[in-house]
Amino acid sequence: MSQTTLSDVVPLRVETLTKIFRQGNTAVEALRNVSLTIHHGEFVAVMGASGSGKSTLLHVLAGLTRPNAGRVIVDGQDLATMSDYQLTCFRRRHIGLVFQAFNLIPTLTALDNVLLPILADGRLSSAHRENVLHGLLTRLGLEERSRHLPDALSGGEQQRIAIARSIVGDPSIILADEPTGSLDSVTGQSICRLLRELCNEQRRTIVVVTHEPAVAVWAERIIVLKDGQVLSEFRTSECPDAHLLAAHYQDIVTAASTNEVPA
Ligand SMILES: Nc1ncnc2c1ncn2[C@@H]1O[C@H](COP(=O)(O)OP(=O)(O)OP(=O)(O)O)[C@@H](O)[C@H]1O
Ligand SMILES: [Mg+2]
Repeated sequence: MSQTTLSDVVPLRVETLTKIFRQGNTAVEALRNVSLTIHHGEFVAVMGASGSGKSTLLHVLAGLTRPNAGRVIVDGQDLATMSDYQLTCFRRRHIGLVFQAFNLIPTLTALDNVLLPILADGRLSSAHRENVLHGLLTRLGLEERSRHLPDALSGGEQQRIAIARSIVGDPSIILADEPTGSLDSVTGQSICRLLRELCNEQRRTIVVVTHEPAVAVWAERIIVLKDGQVLSEFRTSECPDAHLLAAHYQDIVTAASTNEVPA
């Protein structure tokens, strides 16, 4: 008899997803009929112009925003069946999130910000604290900054703290919104390497939103969004360096706007 293992469960699946934001009389359709599947241990980059729905997609995958229509299935569970409290607990266990705006708590030190997910989940021990300080923070070059408040950190340091916080709870899925946006190219590439290692060595599933071909090239698959829809997807094996990827991405975007019917 065959047994279902964790790796058989598709970590992320969305079906015919629609998300509409309403403000007064205006409605913005941030996601339109989006369906996609992301496999266990896959590293996927989501690209697209500003306003194309990238952050909205990540927030819906994380259960932070509920869609107007469609289904979101994470590690085999339909998020629509959960209450807000159940979703929060589920998220803590399954998903590490890096927000575009970091969302660090200003009154907590860098170390306490990183430890927050395991503290909230009742899993924090003093051994854990030491391991995070001398392991994860050292690996990210942040050990010396551990006692600083976020205000006293550079943008790049805050971003690395946000990344450390997303992986500290050992989630099987990491969703990162522009995780290298505030970093110089060397630090940015070291973050990409870390994400790649988490994927290769620990089979974590990673979705990164990025504008940067030099970041996207670390993924296996690129999903291109336009006006809330999946415009195209391709594998990085088709264009294995950042310049080729940038050119291919540009071709896709240009072809889409050339084919657009004028209003
Ligand atoms: N809370 C909200 N209320 C109203 N409209 C929103 C809200 N969040 C997003 N939108 C709109 O939905 C669309 C998609 O926004 P989203 O933030 O997902 O884009 P994005 O691709 O992440 O852009 P960027 O690259 O600038 O971060 C935009 O038109 C945006 O203005
Ligand atoms: Mg965004």
